[in-house]
Amino acid sequence: MGSVLVVYGTKTGCTQGIAEHIGATMIDLGAKVDVRRAEDKPDPAGYDAVVVGSGVRAGSWHGPVKEWVSAHAWKLKEMPTAFFTACLTMADGAEKADEVRAYTDPLIAETGVEPVDIGLFAGMNDPKRFSLPERLIMKAMKAPQGDFRDMDAIAAWARETAPKLGIG
Ligand SMILES: Cc1cc2nc3c(=O)[nH]c(=O)nc-3n(C[C@H](O)[C@H](O)[C@H](O)COP(=O)(O)O)c2cc1C
Repeated sequence: MGSVLVVYGTKTGCTQGIAEHIGATMIDLGAKVDVRRAEDKPDPAGYDAVVVGSGVRAGSWHGPVKEWVSAHAWKLKEMPTAFFTACLTMADGAEKADEVRAYTDPLIAETGVEPVDIGLFAGMNDPKRFSLPERLIMKAMKAPQGDFRDMDAIAAWARETAPKLGIG
């Protein structure tokens, strides 16, 4: 049924929850799944497919996730790899999906890793989890407060993307 490595980067735990939900959905489809932080530097060797995602700061994935993709690009180019992005722009609805999809364009151009799909998910803005400067930035941006993660939409994306990863 296939084995999948789900790798994520997070500042507040938002993207960890999304990664774990993607992993649980793929386990339900019969896959063997490991969910790991990018900082742990998991080795994609031996897996059949990879899902990698991150929260966003200033239009870009977190550094450790970009570094992980770069470090393993040669391998990821040979295996089905899906990306996902968690951010607040998606909390406004799907109108700005193209803008959010473009957050990973530089990484794709730099590494040559072509994802089979890019999941675009609303994240969260919980001021308690941000530093003071981050809280001020969010306030200045008039970012909506709350947890906008749609677990049903995340599971639906995982199920739709699974066949492209050779699962199910
Ligand atoms: C300083 C700062 C900058 C951010 N920049 C963006 C951005 O450029 N675009 C966006 O859609 N969301 C942006 N966000 C929102 C985060 O991506 C969102 O809170 C996401 O859920 C974070 O996930 P994580 O905590 O798992 O990293 C920003 C948040 C902060 C605190």
